[in-house]
Amino acid sequence: MCVLEQDQAANGRTAAMAGPWSAGTRFTADGGATVGGVPLTDIATRFGTPAYVIDETDLRARCRAYRAALPDAEVVYAAKAFLCRAMASWVREEGLGLDVASGGELAVAASVGFPAERIVFHGNAKTPRELAAAVEAGVGRIVVDTLAEINHLAAIVPFGRRQKVLIRVIPDIDAGAHRAIRTGGEDQKFGMSIASGAAAEAVARTLGQSSLELAGLHCHLGSQIVTPEPFERAARVMVEQLAQIRDTHGVTLPELDLGGGHGIPYLDGERGLDLESYARRVDDAVRAQAAWLGLPVPRLIIEPGRAVSGPAGLTLYRVITVKRGLSRIFVAVDGGMSDNPRPCLYGARYTARMIGRRSGAATRAATVVGHHCEAGDTLAEDVELPADIRPGDLIAVAATGAYHHSMASTYNMTGRPPVVAVASGRARLVVRREEPADLMLRDVGL
Ligand SMILES: Cc1ncc(COP(=O)(O)O)c(C=O)c1O
Repeated sequence: MCVLEQDQAANGRTAAMAGPWSAGTRFTADGGATVGGVPLTDIATRFGTPAYVIDETDLRARCRAYRAALPDAEVVYAAKAFLCRAMASWVREEGLGLDVASGGELAVAASVGFPAERIVFHGNAKTPRELAAAVEAGVGRIVVDTLAEINHLAAIVPFGRRQKVLIRVIPDIDAGAHRAIRTGGEDQKFGMSIASGAAAEAVARTLGQSSLELAGLHCHLGSQIVTPEPFERAARVMVEQLAQIRDTHGVTLPELDLGGGHGIPYLDGERGLDLESYARRVDDAVRAQAAWLGLPVPRLIIEPGRAVSGPAGLTLYRVITVKRGLSRIFVAVDGGMSDNPRPCLYGARYTARMIGRRSGAATRAATVVGHHCEAGDTLAEDVELPADIRPGDLIAVAATGAYHHSMASTYNMTGRPPVVAVASGRARLVVRREEPADLMLRDVGL
């Protein structure tokens, strides 16, 4: 009989605090693993490898946890973390909004009838076509990122309509796990500086446009932030900005969007941002600062991406070869940087486990590498794998539900893996594997 080694669902931890595996993941003493009641070996056999597996039940639970923790806030899922039609439908059904950052993401949302008024449209360099599509779709809010965008946007809003906008400002708060994903400080490409006066200028210009309705301010500090403190600071800075707008222009803006960036655990023993404590401390900070400045409490909007979809996903790989270097063991699998570029981009680290058979061998630290033509094509460093791991074995890598499928490439003409959703003992394909024929469809040749 299988012995349960891990049961994350039953122990009462909030979704954001749980470990790197989804709540529906079970590891058994015989070397097996199931997600949502479905053996991962069955998924590998049926859908092939590599494959992204999404625990739909866990993902929906994370959406609900956000809504429960912040009942007065608008929770807007950041589609860039992971988007496909099924995901857009789950987010819609769970009552969240959707943050899109391109015409493509908007098109996916539209294809499943996602309510346009619940869409927030982002981008530091939205093309005229994207802005036109957003206006035409009737998205709830467009987040203005540059001064130039204001006049352009104002000019394309049809006569008689008003487009709600938020202005993205730089709160000058440095937070986030890696330089490349910090966006709250000065001198980066997103948002407008408070210090330089650009943010104030954007407010004045937007208020001067009759076709635009300035609903509030936006900021996004960065990604993979695991303590509430930077968000609290941002809340104070942003409420202060709302007060300055009231003092300068006599208008009280009703909305405050604090972006996303909520960190998750990638390794065993790591902790993500604690949702309950984030909710309480940010809510308190907004209320206290608003009271101090004599402002009504603005309606909070938050945009979590990774914390909704990240831990709900895992990737299944098949071992192709095992190589012993002078000082390291390389376990090479049938995927790599094309389905997960994060280790190359940010030095991201992962938890991986061999699954599908019981091994009596001791574990050894190994480097899981991909099959691409790049020496840096590493998926996970220093993972403890059985010393007898061999070609044909399966490896599951945890917490791959965010910024994996959405960041995947077709390097080496490798088709992108399928996405398999699992719930209540059933696995279903929601995105099929990309085949060479798909890749050649767009290659029109001579
Ligand atoms: C404006 C904005 N909102 C939300 C997010 C989501 O961030 P995360 O997935 O870290 O929560 C991002 C990520 O880049 C972003 O740029």
